[in-house]
Amino acid sequence: KGMPKLEACYNLMDFETVARYVMKKPAWAYYSSGADDEITMRENHSAFHKIWFRPKILVDVENVDISTKMLGTKVDIPFYVTATALGKLGNPEGEVVLTRGAHKHNVIQMIPTLASCSFDEIVDAKQGDQVQWLQLYVNKDREITKKIVQHAEARGVKGLFITVDAPQLGRREKDMRTKFDDTGSNVQNTGGDNVDRSQGAARAISSFIDPSLSWKDIPWFLSITKMPILLKGVQRVEDVLKAIECGVHGVVLSNHGGRQLDTARSGIEVLAEVMPILRERGLQDKIEIYIDGGVRRATDIIKAMCLGAKGVGIGRPFLFAMSAYGLPGVDRAMQLLKDEMIMNMRLIGAAKVEDLTPDMLDIAGARSH
Ligand code: FNR
Repeated sequence: KGMPKLEACYNLMDFETVARYVMKKPAWAYYSSGADDEITMRENHSAFHKIWFRPKILVDVENVDISTKMLGTKVDIPFYVTATALGKLGNPEGEVVLTRGAHKHNVIQMIPTLASCSFDEIVDAKQGDQVQWLQLYVNKDREITKKIVQHAEARGVKGLFITVDAPQLGRREKDMRTKFDDTGSNVQNTGGDNVDRSQGAARAISSFIDPSLSWKDIPWFLSITKMPILLKGVQRVEDVLKAIECGVHGVVLSNHGGRQLDTARSGIEVLAEVMPILRERGLQDKIEIYIDGGVRRATDIIKAMCLGAKGVGIGRPFLFAMSAYGLPGVDRAMQLLKDEMIMNMRLIGAAKVEDLTPDMLDIAGARSH
């Protein structure tokens, strides 16, 4: 009642505006919150605005191809649906709605450890040769973690993203102010801990995560699975270099959507730090680099691809689209990004993703504070 029609959503921010008014308050608080003063959360998006285009003219852009490959999988457009916990807070069907949207648009879905649907339900919802990845929170009990990883591999998951920016969950005050009631959110995979509901959703579900996880554990992960392993939440070039030494397949430059360390830098800024150093040392093909955080426009995706990312993760916009409109919302959000991307590739003078190069950007303003 009084809700804007789906067709009135013209960009990803519009879904957030609608979701804010239709979602239950604790659900809105959990999805929309960032850590502390939310400075990093805001910066994630605004960092893209400090990067300007240097478009090429008179390039034949009659046919534009925005498809690319991520970890060997061909996708329609260089984004994936990143892992976000508790899908049923926003939609009674939960994460499977995102599975269906990802299938329709031929993009990859990263399944969260803390999904509301069970892992198997989300895998069962996959269609045809659809590809899924798994986001992993590492349990203090490594046997539980090993089971989760090997089960995922057996069920066809094609990439393991170990979250490394959350030895403890950040303080999301908006979330903490609303008392968490997990009826309807139906958290899975937490190892059956007794849950303390007095500190918001994030605190309630995260007590099993192992804060002692360290570089020493990485060889063990490489030994228990053949899936490519990526570290999600890397924030400095030194750690990218270490990741290469460890033999992992990739990293996601990310600050967890601004939900962990406040005043951490945005993924796009870290990417601008990392890529020139990898190129200098001839390491750019040794590892796949992804970013996430604040991606809302196809121009944001294009900027990341120009700098050398293999793709970008998008989180909240699909949660908001799913909460406000269900699958048709997710479908429209993805289609809007595809339409924007084709148009902006034409305007920047690139007919395919490989044509996006660093010289098409002016990043002088992005690296000065
Ligand atoms: C997240 N994110 C996240 N990351 C992770 O590794 N495990 C998780 O369980 C979650 N859960 C989660 C819940 C919600 C509600 C949000 C918004 C985010 C972080 C997520 O994968 C990603 O890093 C950010 O969401 C990217 O930023 P945007 O696109 O939301 O701005």
